[in-house]
Amino acid sequence: MSGKAILEYEGNRYELPVIQGSENELAIDIKNLRSQSGMITLDPGYKNTGSCESAITFLDGELGILRYRGYAIEDLAEKSSFLEVVYLLIWGELPTQSQLEKFHKDIVQESIVDEDMKKILDGFPKSAHPMGVLSSLTSALIAFNPRFVNVSSDEEMYEAIVRIVAKFPVLVAWTLRKRKGLPLDYGDDTLGYVENIHKMMFKKPSGEYKKNDIIIDALDKLLILHADHEQNCSTSTVRIVGSSHAGLFASLSAGISALWGPLHGGANQAVLEMLEAIQADGGDTKKYMAKAKDKNDPFRLMGFGHRVYKNFDPRAKIIKKAADDVLADLGIDDPILAIAKGLEQEALQDEYFVSRNLYPNVDFYSGIIYRALGIPTEMFTVMFALGRLPGWIAQWREMRLNQEPIGRPRQVYVGETLRSFTPIENR
Ligand code: CMC
Repeated sequence: MSGKAILEYEGNRYELPVIQGSENELAIDIKNLRSQSGMITLDPGYKNTGSCESAITFLDGELGILRYRGYAIEDLAEKSSFLEVVYLLIWGELPTQSQLEKFHKDIVQESIVDEDMKKILDGFPKSAHPMGVLSSLTSALIAFNPRFVNVSSDEEMYEAIVRIVAKFPVLVAWTLRKRKGLPLDYGDDTLGYVENIHKMMFKKPSGEYKKNDIIIDALDKLLILHADHEQNCSTSTVRIVGSSHAGLFASLSAGISALWGPLHGGANQAVLEMLEAIQADGGDTKKYMAKAKDKNDPFRLMGFGHRVYKNFDPRAKIIKKAADDVLADLGIDDPILAIAKGLEQEALQDEYFVSRNLYPNVDFYSGIIYRALGIPTEMFTVMFALGRLPGWIAQWREMRLNQEPIGRPRQVYVGETLRSFTPIENR
């Protein structure tokens, strides 16, 4: 505790403890406010509400800082692999070589998905949105792994985590292959985690899988950059669903649905669709800048702005460079990119965007890289989910280990007061 805040209302004085985090953020602890005063706090969208104490990810939106377990995102993106980051986020420390090898070996052993799951996938039309399919398949996994509906020991927790880290990429790959009309595939135990994901997604039935280092490095970086982002919409969903003691897979399935929305993970798909629409409309970026600023027009510049980053998104900086490298290395000359660059330049100099601190976010550039890597637009948010999986797992585990109470916000009721019932014939 770091002192007290005083709240005064109608002559009454309430003392509220102030909590200090390890990076010196201060929070007023209102746990006992209602029992003391009869009042609650109101904060739609939780813009100003801490829902938990967490030791996983630190971010400072004003300074543009993002760290996983104390490690700078810039260092992790440059020097580590996605699987190391998965381990780090979930268990709190970077793995030793032997810990990483054991983790990978355990994942490889659990990487088979029951063949009957294919029947469930078969029931979806090819046109189904991959996020809906992925959320359903993740939920369906529960039926095939009933022991992990809930976990009651450290061993079960480890097994449940390894299973989902192993099987989720298979579901992702199947979702894509179904959409493309390709036969479903399993991985190759001899490949690295990310390489295997790429192979499962793209290997042609008639040819050998050939690794492309540029693509694998870019994917690895993208997955690392998306791996956690503290209490965002989908993570809060995972924690709140898990707080009712719903199991890990059910909580993750809910998180996938939350991520789907265009204001959250769905923004990367929305960015590309927006760029394509601008191109189809003649490529006039100024027209769309004006639409974004017009309060009578619902159009927003997708990929710009962020709930917490009010300076710049540190992930966007790394990913912008990765996007430039990938496009140069793969020799891609894409007119959509010229539109993206034009919008970026205009927004960075525009008073409306500058005064509201609206900078390009991670999704602005990730969509561009995914497109360059040949990933279909509707799969972009699925790629985000693949990256975010370890963050969701780490947050779910922390919530359970901390024995957090069930999430159950209150409300301020503003509806009708008691009315007498009118029989239907008299209405
Ligand atoms: N285009 C035009 N105006 C915008 C935009 C935008 N993309 N974003 C915010 N504004 C304006 C908004 O109209 C408001 O203006 P005013 O103060 O005049 O009313 C002001 O900026 C503040 O916006 P807000 O909606 O109060 O900000 P928020 O923190 O509630 O919303 C956001 C954050 C990300 C939902 C929003 O910026 C947005 O809709 N961006 C586009 C969607 C997007 O790219 N989302 C991905 C976020 S990053 C990935 C992730 O972590 O999920």
